[in-house]
Amino acid sequence: MGTDLPGFFVGTEMPTSGWWEALWPDPVGVLVAVGMEPGMDVIDLCSGDGWFTLQIAKIAHHVVAIDLDANLLDVARHRLAEAGATNCDFIADNAYELAELAPQPADFVFLANAFHGVPDRPRLARAVHAALKPAGRFAIVNWHSRPRDETTVLGEPRGPKTELRLSPEQTIGAVEAGGLKLAQLIEVPPYHYGAVFRRLET
Ligand SMILES: C[S@@+](CC[C@H](N)C(=O)[O-])C[C@H]1O[C@@H](n2cnc3c(N)ncnc32)[C@H](O)[C@@H]1O
Repeated sequence: MGTDLPGFFVGTEMPTSGWWEALWPDPVGVLVAVGMEPGMDVIDLCSGDGWFTLQIAKIAHHVVAIDLDANLLDVARHRLAEAGATNCDFIADNAYELAELAPQPADFVFLANAFHGVPDRPRLARAVHAALKPAGRFAIVNWHSRPRDETTVLGEPRGPKTELRLSPEQTIGAVEAGGLKLAQLIEVPPYHYGAVFRRLET
């Protein structure tokens, strides 16, 4: 499955297990750093196998996990069930359609390790805009645009191809073209940054 699915974002396949956990030992710390707060209704967009989704479920009032790959959603569903989390819905579909998929407007949309592969980024930003409550937030966590050889984890170069990586400026430009406004830009060591956008209250 995965990359064979129609509409799959280029270079966004879920990594082989092992090094992801080594790279992200503190997913809660990432979520707090980008401004996720208790009680929020959250969408985890391109949620993969649920490494972040489980931690979102522990913070949020409710989380909707959306991923094109139903097999990965099954892994995430199992992960959350094992942990006793019951405040999550899982939707296997294309992220571009999130405004139609989400059951209700969200306080926060979280998108990690996928924006680099989105062909039409302003289109995705517009879809996020439509899925957010007024003053809602959209956080993107991206690999820095460093050469892949330099971003090693457990002794191997990791992450998307160098040519796919986006600078903060490229990310901000694409999302603001979709109607959201940058609120915060942070470092997410060792190799990522977080760009947080807000929906204007109109
Ligand atoms: C690199 S993984 C990251 C998963 C998760 N966000 C994380 O950081 O642990 C990117 C995910 O994007 C999903 N994906 C790719 N194209 C998609 C699309 N068009 N709509 C929704 N999900 C998509 C893939 O199936 C994969 O699970």
